[in-house]
Amino acid sequence: MPALPVLDHGAVLTAVSPASAIERVRAAFLRFAAGEWTMPAKVYLDSPPFGDFRAMPARGDGLALLKWVTSFPGNPAHGLPTVTGVICLSDARNGEPLMLLDARSVTALRTGAVAAVAALALARGDARTAGIVGCGLHGAWSARCLAAAGYGPGVCHDPRPEVAQALAAELGWRSGERADAIASDVVCCVTPGAEEVLGAGDLRRGMHLNMLGADGPGKAEASVDAVDACVLFCDEWEQASHGGELTAAVTAGVVSRDRVTELGLVLAGSAAGRPGPEAVTLFDSTGLAIQDLAIASAALAAWREGRIEAQTISL
Ligand SMILES: NC(=O)c1ccc[n+]([C@@H]2O[C@H](COP(=O)([O-])OP(=O)(O)OC[C@H]3O[C@@H](n4cnc5c(N)ncnc54)[C@H](O)[C@@H]3O)[C@@H](O)[C@H]2O)c1
Repeated sequence: MPALPVLDHGAVLTAVSPASAIERVRAAFLRFAAGEWTMPAKVYLDSPPFGDFRAMPARGDGLALLKWVTSFPGNPAHGLPTVTGVICLSDARNGEPLMLLDARSVTALRTGAVAAVAALALARGDARTAGIVGCGLHGAWSARCLAAAGYGPGVCHDPRPEVAQALAAELGWRSGERADAIASDVVCCVTPGAEEVLGAGDLRRGMHLNMLGADGPGKAEASVDAVDACVLFCDEWEQASHGGELTAAVTAGVVSRDRVTELGLVLAGSAAGRPGPEAVTLFDSTGLAIQDLAIASAALAAWREGRIEAQTISL
């Protein structure tokens, strides 16, 4: 078997720029909506009381991927990242492994990228300012991708002022209070989902919300009232209704399937997006394996074209 390339964190981020991630993730949603890419439901393996593991497979464009990734919310208190894991990218025609990749960087890039894809599709055409509530790993990549998509200046908010300030300095934005961040045209909530950061009283006409932090059962960043007051979109209904921002509202019987539109259908032009400039749109991102496939496939292309270096191993 040929030597297997292994991409570490830095190699992934060198291989795929935010602009390229946005383009690739957008294309992945279109392919999935067209039925060309497939993705079985992600499997959660709880590891109480610490967090959970997720197994996320997808197939498309002659490639098959499995991401084995975690969410351990208490990790930062011990100096460890919330999300870690490994991706195996294989040839879908013969099963041969083609590349191993650091899952943390791929996840960060594809999560940030979908924030930009959703904003470009659902925010008002004249939306410019961006607010980030929760400036950890995924909040930072959401901000970087929004900036790459032309949004900004923005406001970064985090109870850890130093992380908000560092992100704001990197992008030429500013740090501020939660109220400053949610006064933006596009607001991204990227907190651990352990407490409410957005209530119905925070909604303003014409704003767009990307709810990224609630990506598993029991997590929520907005109140049910707030969710109920929005025009609703999600990445994928099954995940969003069982382990996303919409889950509490679905469980409470406030939101049903017919009120929620999947992003891919909007991108494909087969479903309506924002109904008008006054609407408050909410996109629930739970994180899809097709997004990971989009980034891993771009990284494989970069390596094959000699644009990045990789370690190799023999199995
Ligand atoms: N939707 C997706 O595709 C997706 C992908 C990966 C991770 N996630 C989820 O996103 C969340 C954040 O992950 P991360 O890796 O960035 O974690 P992180 O620990 O790096 O960052 C979380 C940040 O939120 C801040 N925070 C905590 N409470 C806050 C509050 N009340 N208001 C504002 N900020 C607050 C923390 O200080 C921290 O900086 C997790 O729940 C994770 O599971 C979602």
